[in-house]
Parts: sequence; C-alpha cells; structure tokens
Amino acid sequence: MIVAIDGPAGAGKSTVARALARALGFRYLDSGAMYRAVGLMTLRHGGPASEQAERLSLELDDGVVANGEDVTDEIRDPEVSEAASRVATNPRVRAALVQKQRELLGDGDWVAEGRDIGTVVAPDAEVKVFLSADPRERARRRAAELGGDAETVLREQALRDAQDEGREHSPLALAPGAVELDTTGLGVDEVVDRIAAIVRAAAP
Ligand code: DC
Repeated sequence: MIVAIDGPAGAGKSTVARALARALGFRYLDSGAMYRAVGLMTLRHGGPASEQAERLSLELDDGVVANGEDVTDEIRDPEVSEAASRVATNPRVRAALVQKQRELLGDGDWVAEGRDIGTVVAPDAEVKVFLSADPRERARRRAAELGGDAETVLREQALRDAQDEGREHSPLALAPGAVELDTTGLGVDEVVDRIAAIVRAAAP
C-alpha cells in the first residue's frame, strides 16, 4: 500500500510522514531530500542539474547518503533549500527523480512525502493526503526547527511557495481523491491518528 502525503513546506509533512510510517510499520520516502541532494550537488559542482540528477546515487535508509557521502544535515541549509526549489522546476531533473521514486515504491508498503506524490509519482496510491497550514504557523514551525527569525523564514517561504505552486512542471496541487487536512493548531499525534484512521479504512 502507498500513502501519499503532499503539501507545502512547513505543513508538517516530514514529521507526520515519519511518525505515521513508524506507527504503521511502513517504509518512509522523503522525496524532497532527493531534490535537496540534487540542489546540493549542483551548487557544489555546477553543470546542468539534470546531469546531477541522472547520475545521483542515493541511500535513504538512515539519513541521506548522496554519491557515498552523508549529506543529512547539509541538505537542510537555506541555500540548499533555495537550490532544491530551483532544480525542482527542471523537467529532466523531475523525470530522473520520479523514476527513482517509482522504482522504490514498486515494492512494499510506503508512506511517501513530497509535492507531486499523489498527482504524478503514485497517482494510484490507495491513500492521498494534502497537508496544509496557515503560512504564519508554517514559518513559526520552520524557524523553531531550523533556527532563525520567523519573519525572514516567512518571506523566504512565500518565495518558495510561489515557485513550487507556479512552476510549469508538476506544480504543487491537490490530487484527485486527496483528503485535505489543515494542521493549523493540531499536534503531530493528532494528525498521525487522523491519517492512520484513513489508512485503516482504506486497507483491504
Ligand atoms: O519538502 P522539502 O522542503 O524538503 O522539498 C525541497 C524542495 O523540493 C521544495 O522546493 C519542493 C521540491 N520538491 C518537489 O518539487 N517535489 C517533491 N516531490 C518534493 C520536493
């Protein structure tokens, strides 16, 4: 079974998806980490982002190992976030990463998290959830997690939202059949419980 969780940055996707995977005994796929790894390699080595994506070797089991190097922390740097959002507009980057994601998801039970899981990567996912939250709350959560000032995070977040929602290829959008869940004011456990109930109702 595949549980697809999409939504903007700071809606709680990563925390919720990881906790949900643990609760269900499913594997967890953080597709954003793949765009971040391509963003990081492009910042470091230059050249076309699509070549970085096509040659990227990734291990996602424990942290993020890209081309043999542990980049778990570095891919969360603000300049890597910006680079990830930029490379994610490139259709060849998307094609290469979507292919890797589909290969992984082809086998076993998964909670997969991103922007286009329910729309593009796994449109047949048994459960699709779109997480949203008030932009100010999203910026507050992000600032609490990564440090920094909420107003600056809010400004950068607005730019990234516009880029993710307005891009030509696979923009962030509600998938057909997705359940929209506004997490403003909700705790992680509450969100996980609600999605787990949806999964149980969908289980064969
Ligand atoms: O979820 P995140 O912040 O780690 O994602 C990093 C960037 O990658 C973000 O700008 C959106 C993009 N992304 C995407 O386009 N498609 C995905 N499935 C996941 C992330």
